[in-house]
Amino acid sequence: MLAKQPQREVVLDLRNITKTYSTGTLDVQALRSVSLSIHRGEFVSIMGPSGSGKSTLLHILGALDQPTSGEYYLDGVDVAKLNARQLAAVRNRKIGFVFQSFNLLKRTSAVRQVELPLIYARVRNRLSQARSALESVGLRARLHHLPSELSGGQQQRVAIARAVVSAPAIILADEPTGNLDSSSGIEVLKIFQEMNREKGMTLIIVTHDPFVARHTDRIIMLRDGNIVADQAVRNPIQAGSVERTSELSQLDDGITEPSFVKRQELNE
Ligand SMILES: Nc1ncnc2c1ncn2[C@@H]1O[C@H](COP(=O)(O)OP(=O)(O)OP(=O)(O)O)[C@@H](O)[C@H]1O
Ligand SMILES: [Mg+2]
Repeated sequence: MLAKQPQREVVLDLRNITKTYSTGTLDVQALRSVSLSIHRGEFVSIMGPSGSGKSTLLHILGALDQPTSGEYYLDGVDVAKLNARQLAAVRNRKIGFVFQSFNLLKRTSAVRQVELPLIYARVRNRLSQARSALESVGLRARLHHLPSELSGGQQQRVAIARAVVSAPAIILADEPTGNLDSSSGIEVLKIFQEMNREKGMTLIIVTHDPFVARHTDRIIMLRDGNIVADQAVRNPIQAGSVERTSELSQLDDGITEPSFVKRQELNE
C-alpha cells in the first residue's frame, strides 16, 4: 500500500483581506481583496510596482497591523480576534521581521541588538544565543561593533540575526537587499536559502528585483492592491551560482524567461 503523502500545512491564510487607509478626506484602498495561503517551509517573494500594497500586505502578515476587513489565520489562530497584547505575543513568538532600513539602534553593539528580543522574551543564555545567531550570518568578528562601524551588508546581517535569534517559524523581510550592493545582496539571499532549507523556516520577502525573486520558490505579484499573478519559480537560483547577464536583459522580464548565465559557463 502506498504511504499517504503528508499534507503540506498552511501556516498563513488570508481570506478576502482589504486594507483602507483614511487620511483626512482621502481614503486609499491599499489592499482590495487579497486571498492567499502560504505553507510551512515555503520561500515566497512579493513583487509589484511602488504603491501596489506590498508593505501593507507584509505588515498584515506580520500582525503589525490589522486589516480593515477579511480573515487572517496565522498558524490556525484568527488574528482579528486578538487584542493588542495577544497580537504582540504572537508576533514575538512566531515572527521575525527584517526591515529595508535595518532599524538598528545607533548606540548599541551588534551582539546587544541581537540580544534584545531575547530580553523581551525573558530567555536565559541570551549572550550565547545572540553570539551564535551573529556567527550564523558571518559576523563572529563584529560582535561589539556599533552600526556606524559596519557596512550596509553587515548591518542588514545584524538585522537578520536579530530577526532569527528567537527561532521564529516565519521570517518577513521588506526589501532586505534593496539597500545593498549586489554581492552583499547575494550573501543575504544565501543566508535566507540556508534558513529555509536547513531549518525549514517559512520566508516571505518583498522585492522590486526579479533577479532576487528568482531565488525564491514562488512569486506573488501585486498591482493596485490585488494579486494579479501567483506562480511557482521553475528551478530557483542557488544564491551565488548565477550572475546577472546585464542590467539590460533584466529589463526584458527576468521572471518568465530566465535571462541569466551560469557562472560555470562564464568561466569556460
Ligand atoms: N499609513 C498610511 N496612511 C495612508 N496611506 C498609506 C499608508 N501606508 C501606505 N499607504 C498607501 O497605501 C498604498 C500602498 O502602500 P504600500 O506601502 O503598501 O506600497 P508598496 O507596494 O510597499 O510600495 P513601495 O514599493 O513604494 O514600498 C499606497 O498608495 C500608499 O500611499
Ligand atoms: Mg513598501
